[in-house]
Amino acid sequence: MYNFNSGPAVLPAAVLYEASEAVLNFNNIGLSILEIGHRTDWFVNVLEEAKSLVKELMQLDDSYEVLYLHGGATTQFMQVPMNLLNEDETASYCDNGIWGSKAIKEAKLFGNVHIACSSKDQNHTYIPKELSVPQYSKYLHYTTNNTVEGTQWHFIPEANVPLVADMSSDIFSREIPFSKFSLIYAGAQKNAGAAGVTIVVIKKDILGKVKRQIPTILDYRTHIEAKSLLNTPPVFAIYVSMLTLRWIKKEGGLREMEKRTNERADLFYETLDSLNLFEGKVDKQDRSLMNATFTTKNPGHEKLFLDECKQNGMVGIKGHRSVGGLRVSMYNALPLSSVQALCDLMKDFDEKHG
Ligand SMILES: Cc1ncc(COP(=O)(O)O)c(C=O)c1O
Repeated sequence: MYNFNSGPAVLPAAVLYEASEAVLNFNNIGLSILEIGHRTDWFVNVLEEAKSLVKELMQLDDSYEVLYLHGGATTQFMQVPMNLLNEDETASYCDNGIWGSKAIKEAKLFGNVHIACSSKDQNHTYIPKELSVPQYSKYLHYTTNNTVEGTQWHFIPEANVPLVADMSSDIFSREIPFSKFSLIYAGAQKNAGAAGVTIVVIKKDILGKVKRQIPTILDYRTHIEAKSLLNTPPVFAIYVSMLTLRWIKKEGGLREMEKRTNERADLFYETLDSLNLFEGKVDKQDRSLMNATFTTKNPGHEKLFLDECKQNGMVGIKGHRSVGGLRVSMYNALPLSSVQALCDLMKDFDEKHG
């Protein structure tokens, strides 16, 4: 199968193989990874390796802490303002897509939200280049890659306030100066492993400034103290994430991931732009290198094309239910040959029906 799913998504074959072996016999200890205690040395070593790989790949120093938490990126929409924003304070948010809008909705439960920029006027088909970020903002939040709409920030916004980013759908796909951020979060299920766990990277000095009482399990400080072992973590999901990060490092780290990201996206978009029957949905300069959104110019062709994809073993090409159209997700583990196969099918379709 060619797996273009948006998440959970394609994983490296080597990771799937090793994880499947560990389900039967983890590290030859005679037990499954699914049946070892989370406080055993066996699992603690997995967790510590995963956390240290995150830091290593991001080139972060010890002023940062890495957490593996429950609840998906969606929980972070609420946990970030709960930990960083007092009721009478303001945070700035970029409103560039469905996930950013959800984060804004949650932040409003905890304090004031200033909209630093919005692309709502054009259905989030572009990334605004001008931002307004008042100096009194406690932080600026944005979604680095808009999974649903297919846009991506190709620059880091300038703001003299702490930066907070939802990197769920482009984490580890490119080399960026991660130390510019005070808090980064990402659901693991796209570029960093299996569903069930969220990576949160925090610069420790931004914590401890809110007045409210934070429930224990939602307080980042308790998770830091407990080293991500406050309660039973999703052991298997963390194991798969560790294997995925090991794979990224072994393949050549983020430099190599970025090279592959560009190769896949160049091939796909060059093909898309050369055909008559398809068109991209967003501004070219803001196109996502992870999630390409497009449509058939003739709406009647969409189902026909999806049927052909299915017949050829290509899955995950239907656009998100909220926006329709077509979407191809090209995460780290997607081989270039899968993109090539899809491009060949699109060319063929264009010839047949054009
Ligand atoms: C950018 C982004 N943020 C947040 C989410 C929500 O993640 P979760 O389902 O882990 O809560 C997604 C899911 O696809 C996403 O792509």
